[in-house]
Amino acid sequence: MSAGRNILRELKEQVLYLTINRPDKLNALNRETLEELAQQIEFAAQTREVRGVLLTGAGEKAFAAGADISEFATLGPEDGEALARRGQEQVFDAISNCPKPVVAAINGFALGGGLELAMACHIRVASDQARFGLPEVTLGLIPGYGGTQRLAGLIGRGRAIEMITTAEMIGAEQAEKIGLVNYVVPGAELQTKSVSILEQIRSRAPLAVAAAIRAVNASGGREGFETEIREFGQCFGTADFREGVAAFLEKRKASFIGT
Ligand code: COA
Repeated sequence: MSAGRNILRELKEQVLYLTINRPDKLNALNRETLEELAQQIEFAAQTREVRGVLLTGAGEKAFAAGADISEFATLGPEDGEALARRGQEQVFDAISNCPKPVVAAINGFALGGGLELAMACHIRVASDQARFGLPEVTLGLIPGYGGTQRLAGLIGRGRAIEMITTAEMIGAEQAEKIGLVNYVVPGAELQTKSVSILEQIRSRAPLAVAAAIRAVNASGGREGFETEIREFGQCFGTADFREGVAAFLEKRKASFIGT
C-alpha cells in the first residue's frame, strides 16, 4: 500500500506507525487526510503482519488541532450530517473497532476532531506538553466525530459536559487525573512508552485481544452517536455557525446571538 500525502506510514516489527503530516496546519484533519487514515486503518485491520498501530502527529506542536475548519465554511445541515456520519464510519469507528490495538501518542494539541481521534484509539499516551479540548462550541458547533459519547465514557458526563460547553482546554496532568489519557510522559519518551504497551499486547493471544476490544466496545450502544450526528448537522443551519467559522478564518473573536 502506498503512502498518501498527508499520512506518513512505516511498518516495523509488526507495528504500523502512522503520522499525520500537516504540521503547518497543526495537523488539522482535512478530507484527504481522513481518507488516507481510513485506508491505513483498513490495511492494519486486514493485514496479518500488523499487530498494533501507533498514531501520532508530525512536529512538536500538535497531535491534531481538529477538523480542518477552512473546509466547513460552505457546508449546510445535510452536508454537515453527512460529514459526521462518513467520518465516524470510515475513520473514528473504524479505529475504535480495529481488531489490533491502536495507541495514540499525543505529542501536542489534541483539539476538536484531534481529541476525538485520540479518544477513538484504544489507549492514549500523552507528552507532558500536550493540551486537550473540544472547542467546537466556539464555532457554533458540537463535536461530530463521536466526541460527546467517547468523552463522557472516559471522564464521566459531568466533566464531559463542562469540557464541551466551556470549550476550556486542559493540560496533560489534568487529563491523566480525570482518565482522559492513560499515561503522561516527557516528550522524548512518548514513542518508547507507546511502543512498550503495544509490545506487551503483542505477547498476548491475538484473537482474545480482538475479542476484548469487541466486547468493551459493545457497551453503550449507538443511539448517542446518532443523536450527535443529527445535532452536529443541525448546527450548520445556524447563523452562529456562520459567525463562528468566519471569526476563526478572520482570526477574530466570535459574537454569538443564538439564532
Ligand atoms: N483547521 C484549519 N486550520 C487550522 C486549524 C484547524 N482546526 N487549527 C490550526 N489551523 C491553522 C491556522 O489557521 C494556521 O494557519 P495559517 O498559518 O495558514 O494562518 C496554522 O494552522 C497555525 O495555527 P495558529 O492558530 O497560527 O497557531 P497558534 O499557536 O496561534 O494557535 C491553536 C494554536 C491550536 C490554539 C489554534 O490554532 C486553534 O485554536 N485552532 C483551532 C482549534 C479548533 O477550534 N479546533 C476544532 C475544530 S472543529
